[in-house]
Amino acid sequence: MVDDNWIDVGPADLTAGELRGLEIGERLVLLACHNDQVSAMDDSCNHAGCLLSGGWIDERKSAVVCPCHEYAFELGSGRNVTFPRLCADQQAFRVRVESGRVMLRLPET
Ligand code: FES
Repeated sequence: MVDDNWIDVGPADLTAGELRGLEIGERLVLLACHNDQVSAMDDSCNHAGCLLSGGWIDERKSAVVCPCHEYAFELGSGRNVTFPRLCADQQAFRVRVESGRVMLRLPET
């Protein structure tokens, strides 16, 4: 079955530890490269809207850390792994690398 809901969001040229913010239509999307895996989630932090792409990766938690108040969201799942949990999980998106391109599947808006 052909699945045409995947969109090409650019070359799969992320380097280890890179956080890249993308603007896709109305959405801000974070791509992250960690442990040879590319993952994607909403780039706009659900706590107060700062961009996670301006943050950094916490290796121990495999999470992106928001630069504003340092909440951490697990790469791949978007789960809030901060204690105490003062905000929700980030929305994670399905992503895959195909023929050197990053393909992303966004939910319907
Ligand atoms: S805006 Fe991200 S932790 Fe507050």
